[in-house]
Amino acid sequence: MSGTFRLAQISDTHIRADDGGAAVAQLKRAMAQAKDYGADVILLTGDLVNDEREDEYALLAEAITDPPAPLYLMPGNHDDRARIRRTFPHHSYLPRDGALHFTIENFPVRIVALDDVVPGETHGLLRRSGAEWLESALSVERTKPTIVALHHPPFLTHDLLFDKIGLLDAEEFATVVARHRQVLRVICGHHHRVAFGQAAHAPVIVAPSSSWTYGLAVDEGQKIAPKTAEQPGWVLHAWTHTGGIASHFMGL
Ligand SMILES: [Fe+2]
Repeated sequence: MSGTFRLAQISDTHIRADDGGAAVAQLKRAMAQAKDYGADVILLTGDLVNDEREDEYALLAEAITDPPAPLYLMPGNHDDRARIRRTFPHHSYLPRDGALHFTIENFPVRIVALDDVVPGETHGLLRRSGAEWLESALSVERTKPTIVALHHPPFLTHDLLFDKIGLLDAEEFATVVARHRQVLRVICGHHHRVAFGQAAHAPVIVAPSSSWTYGLAVDEGQKIAPKTAEQPGWVLHAWTHTGGIASHFMGL
Protein backbone atom coordinates (compact mmCIF):
# COMPACT_ATOMS: atom_id res chain seq x y z
CA MET A 1 0.00 0.00 0.00
CA SER A 2 1.28 3.44 -0.94
CA GLY A 3 2.67 5.75 1.71
CA THR A 4 0.87 8.83 0.42
CA PHE A 5 -2.75 9.89 0.20
CA ARG A 6 -4.35 13.06 -1.13
CA LEU A 7 -7.96 13.96 -0.54
CA ALA A 8 -9.60 16.77 -2.47
CA GLN A 9 -12.46 18.12 -0.37
CA ILE A 10 -14.89 20.22 -2.37
CA SER A 11 -17.81 21.59 -0.38
CA ASP A 12 -21.05 23.47 -0.78
CA THR A 13 -21.05 23.31 -4.55
CA HIS A 14 -24.69 24.55 -4.59
CA ILE A 15 -25.31 23.55 -8.19
CA ARG A 16 -28.28 25.46 -9.58
CA ALA A 17 -30.05 25.75 -12.90
CA ASP A 18 -30.41 29.54 -12.97
CA ASP A 19 -26.86 30.82 -12.44
CA GLY A 20 -25.65 30.55 -16.01
CA GLY A 21 -23.57 27.49 -15.16
CA ALA A 22 -21.38 29.35 -12.64
CA ALA A 23 -21.49 26.72 -9.88
CA VAL A 24 -20.84 23.88 -12.33
CA ALA A 25 -17.88 25.80 -13.77
CA GLN A 26 -16.43 26.28 -10.28
CA LEU A 27 -16.82 22.56 -9.52
CA LYS A 28 -15.10 21.67 -12.78
CA ARG A 29 -12.26 24.07 -12.01
CA ALA A 30 -11.86 22.50 -8.57
CA MET A 31 -11.79 18.99 -10.06
CA ALA A 32 -9.21 20.07 -12.65
CA GLN A 33 -7.02 21.49 -9.89
CA ALA A 34 -7.51 18.31 -7.85
CA LYS A 35 -6.25 16.32 -10.83
CA ASP A 36 -3.20 18.59 -11.13
CA TYR A 37 -2.43 17.94 -7.47
CA GLY A 38 -2.75 14.17 -7.85
CA ALA A 39 -5.85 13.68 -5.70
CA ASP A 40 -6.56 10.03 -4.90
CA VAL A 41 -10.14 10.74 -3.82
CA ILE A 42 -12.56 13.63 -4.32
CA LEU A 43 -15.14 14.09 -1.57
CA LEU A 44 -18.04 16.52 -1.90
CA THR A 45 -19.04 17.42 1.65
CA GLY A 46 -22.65 18.43 1.19
CA ASP A 47 -24.93 21.11 -0.19
CA LEU A 48 -24.35 19.45 -3.51
CA VAL A 49 -27.18 21.48 -5.02
CA ASN A 50 -28.89 24.69 -4.01
CA ASP A 51 -32.52 23.76 -3.67
CA GLU A 52 -32.96 19.96 -3.63
CA ARG A 53 -34.25 20.10 -7.22
CA GLU A 54 -34.08 17.25 -9.71
CA ASP A 55 -32.81 19.48 -12.51
CA GLU A 56 -29.99 20.61 -10.22
CA TYR A 57 -28.98 17.01 -9.46
CA ALA A 58 -29.09 16.29 -13.20
CA LEU A 59 -26.62 19.13 -13.77
CA LEU A 60 -24.39 17.76 -11.02
CA ALA A 61 -24.53 14.27 -12.53
CA GLU A 62 -23.48 15.68 -15.88
CA ALA A 63 -20.62 17.64 -14.30
CA ILE A 64 -19.15 14.59 -12.57
CA THR A 65 -19.55 11.95 -15.26
CA ASP A 66 -15.79 11.67 -15.73
CA PRO A 67 -14.09 12.73 -12.50
CA PRO A 68 -10.28 12.64 -12.35
CA ALA A 69 -10.39 10.45 -9.22
CA PRO A 70 -13.00 8.32 -7.42
CA LEU A 71 -15.66 10.82 -6.35
CA TYR A 72 -17.97 10.47 -3.34
CA LEU A 73 -21.09 12.45 -2.46
CA MET A 74 -22.25 13.51 1.00
CA PRO A 75 -25.50 15.33 1.73
CA GLY A 76 -25.93 18.76 3.31
CA ASN A 77 -28.94 20.71 4.49
CA HIS A 78 -29.76 21.78 0.90
CA ASP A 79 -29.92 18.17 -0.27
CA ASP A 80 -32.54 15.47 -0.50
CA ARG A 81 -31.46 11.92 0.27
CA ALA A 82 -34.03 10.25 -1.98
CA ARG A 83 -33.08 12.42 -4.95
CA ILE A 84 -29.39 11.74 -4.38
CA ARG A 85 -30.11 7.99 -4.38
CA ARG A 86 -32.26 8.25 -7.49
CA THR A 87 -29.82 10.39 -9.46
CA PHE A 88 -26.70 8.45 -8.51
CA PRO A 89 -27.76 4.76 -8.38
CA HIS A 90 -24.24 3.70 -9.46
CA HIS A 91 -22.76 5.30 -6.32
CA SER A 92 -22.99 1.93 -4.61
CA TYR A 93 -21.38 3.09 -1.34
CA LEU A 94 -24.58 5.01 -0.52
CA PRO A 95 -26.87 2.99 1.76
CA ARG A 96 -30.24 2.09 0.24
CA ASP A 97 -32.25 3.66 3.03
CA GLY A 98 -31.85 5.86 6.05
CA ALA A 99 -28.95 8.22 6.57
CA LEU A 100 -26.25 8.39 3.89
CA HIS A 101 -23.37 7.31 6.11
CA PHE A 102 -20.47 5.50 4.44
CA THR A 103 -16.77 4.78 4.71
CA ILE A 104 -14.05 4.90 2.06
CA GLU A 105 -11.64 2.01 2.34
CA ASN A 106 -8.71 0.67 0.31
CA PHE A 107 -6.51 3.73 0.76
CA PRO A 108 -3.82 4.28 3.39
CA VAL A 109 -6.14 6.79 5.08
CA ARG A 110 -9.72 5.80 5.91
CA ILE A 111 -12.55 8.24 5.44
CA VAL A 112 -15.59 7.96 7.65
CA ALA A 113 -18.42 10.07 6.21
CA LEU A 114 -21.22 10.90 8.61
CA ASP A 115 -24.63 12.15 7.44
CA ASP A 116 -25.73 14.74 10.06
CA VAL A 117 -28.58 16.22 8.03
CA VAL A 118 -32.03 16.76 9.56
CA PRO A 119 -34.58 16.85 6.71
CA GLY A 120 -36.32 20.23 6.59
CA GLU A 121 -33.84 21.87 8.99
CA THR A 122 -30.75 23.98 8.42
CA HIS A 123 -28.83 22.75 11.47
CA GLY A 124 -27.20 19.36 11.84
CA LEU A 125 -27.61 16.68 14.49
CA LEU A 126 -25.57 13.62 15.33
CA ARG A 127 -28.36 12.02 17.37
CA ARG A 128 -27.97 8.67 19.04
CA SER A 129 -28.22 6.83 15.71
CA GLY A 130 -25.36 8.86 14.23
CA ALA A 131 -23.25 8.45 17.37
CA GLU A 132 -23.74 4.68 17.28
CA TRP A 133 -22.89 4.50 13.58
CA LEU A 134 -19.79 6.65 14.07
CA GLU A 135 -18.62 4.61 17.05
CA SER A 136 -18.99 1.33 15.18
CA ALA A 137 -17.41 2.69 11.97
CA LEU A 138 -14.38 3.95 13.90
CA SER A 139 -14.12 0.75 15.95
CA VAL A 140 -13.52 -1.36 12.82
CA GLU A 141 -10.01 0.06 12.30
CA ARG A 142 -8.52 1.45 15.50
CA THR A 143 -4.99 2.08 14.26
CA LYS A 144 -5.43 3.21 10.65
CA PRO A 145 -5.15 6.99 10.06
CA THR A 146 -8.70 8.29 9.65
CA ILE A 147 -10.47 11.43 8.51
CA VAL A 148 -14.05 11.98 9.74
CA ALA A 149 -16.21 14.07 7.40
CA LEU A 150 -19.59 15.66 8.08
CA HIS A 151 -21.44 18.68 6.69
CA HIS A 152 -21.93 20.90 9.75
CA PRO A 153 -19.04 22.31 11.84
CA PRO A 154 -18.92 20.41 15.17
CA PHE A 155 -17.67 23.39 17.18
CA LEU A 156 -18.72 26.95 17.94
CA THR A 157 -17.34 29.33 15.33
CA HIS A 158 -18.67 32.39 17.22
CA ASP A 159 -20.65 33.46 14.20
CA LEU A 160 -24.08 34.74 15.27
CA LEU A 161 -25.91 32.76 12.60
CA PHE A 162 -23.82 29.67 12.11
CA ASP A 163 -23.62 28.80 15.79
CA LYS A 164 -27.41 28.42 15.67
CA ILE A 165 -27.30 26.19 12.62
CA GLY A 166 -24.17 24.11 13.17
CA LEU A 167 -24.02 20.60 14.64
CA LEU A 168 -26.23 21.19 17.66
CA ASP A 169 -25.02 18.14 19.60
CA ALA A 170 -21.32 18.72 18.97
CA GLU A 171 -20.40 17.57 22.49
CA GLU A 172 -21.68 14.07 21.77
CA PHE A 173 -19.68 14.08 18.53
CA ALA A 174 -16.51 15.04 20.40
CA THR A 175 -17.20 12.31 22.97
CA VAL A 176 -17.12 9.67 20.24
CA VAL A 177 -14.05 11.13 18.52
CA ALA A 178 -12.21 11.25 21.86
CA ARG A 179 -12.31 7.43 22.03
CA HIS A 180 -10.49 7.13 18.69
CA ARG A 181 -6.97 8.46 18.59
CA GLN A 182 -6.64 7.36 14.96
CA VAL A 183 -8.82 10.31 13.89
CA LEU A 184 -6.30 12.77 12.42
CA ARG A 185 -8.76 15.34 11.15
CA VAL A 186 -12.41 16.21 11.16
CA ILE A 187 -13.51 17.97 7.98
CA CYS A 188 -16.75 19.77 7.19
CA GLY A 189 -18.29 22.64 5.23
CA HIS A 190 -21.59 24.55 5.63
CA HIS A 191 -20.07 27.87 6.75
CA HIS A 192 -18.88 28.92 3.28
CA ARG A 193 -15.66 30.23 4.73
CA VAL A 194 -12.39 28.77 5.96
CA ALA A 195 -12.32 28.17 9.72
CA PHE A 196 -10.51 25.94 12.18
CA GLY A 197 -11.70 24.32 15.39
CA GLN A 198 -11.32 21.27 17.57
CA ALA A 199 -13.25 18.08 18.31
CA ALA A 200 -11.60 16.26 21.22
CA HIS A 201 -7.96 15.75 20.09
CA ALA A 202 -8.71 16.23 16.39
CA PRO A 203 -8.31 19.53 14.53
CA VAL A 204 -11.43 20.47 12.58
CA ILE A 205 -11.08 22.12 9.17
CA VAL A 206 -14.05 23.96 7.68
CA ALA A 207 -13.69 24.03 3.90
CA PRO A 208 -14.96 27.04 1.99
CA SER A 209 -17.68 26.76 -0.63
CA SER A 210 -16.52 26.26 -4.19
CA SER A 211 -19.24 28.70 -5.24
CA TRP A 212 -19.41 31.70 -2.88
CA THR A 213 -18.19 32.83 0.53
CA TYR A 214 -19.93 34.32 3.56
CA GLY A 215 -18.55 37.00 5.86
CA LEU A 216 -18.41 36.64 9.62
CA ALA A 217 -20.81 38.21 12.15
CA VAL A 218 -19.38 38.04 15.66
CA ASP A 219 -21.09 41.08 17.22
CA GLU A 220 -24.71 42.20 17.34
CA GLY A 221 -25.38 44.66 14.55
CA GLN A 222 -23.01 43.02 12.10
CA LYS A 223 -24.70 41.77 8.98
CA ILE A 224 -25.54 38.09 9.15
CA ALA A 225 -24.03 35.90 6.43
CA PRO A 226 -23.19 38.63 3.92
CA LYS A 227 -21.73 37.43 0.67
CA THR A 228 -18.11 38.56 0.58
CA ALA A 229 -15.33 39.02 -1.89
CA GLU A 230 -13.31 36.33 -0.11
CA GLN A 231 -12.14 33.65 -2.46
CA PRO A 232 -14.14 30.45 -2.96
CA GLY A 233 -12.06 27.32 -3.07
CA TRP A 234 -11.53 23.78 -1.87
CA VAL A 235 -9.12 21.99 0.46
CA LEU A 236 -6.36 19.52 -0.30
CA HIS A 237 -5.67 17.19 2.62
CA ALA A 238 -2.27 15.63 1.94
CA TRP A 239 -0.96 12.71 4.02
CA THR A 240 2.28 10.79 3.96
CA HIS A 241 3.25 7.80 6.05
CA THR A 242 6.28 9.59 7.46
CA GLY A 243 5.04 13.18 7.55
CA GLY A 244 1.45 12.97 8.75
CA ILE A 245 -1.31 15.20 7.44
CA ALA A 246 -1.42 18.80 6.22
CA SER A 247 -4.45 20.67 4.87
CA HIS A 248 -4.20 23.40 2.25
CA PHE A 249 -6.76 25.96 1.10
CA MET A 250 -6.85 26.08 -2.70
CA GLY A 251 -8.41 29.20 -4.17
CA LEU A 252 -10.66 29.13 -7.21
FE1 LIG B 1 -23.97 25.54 1.82
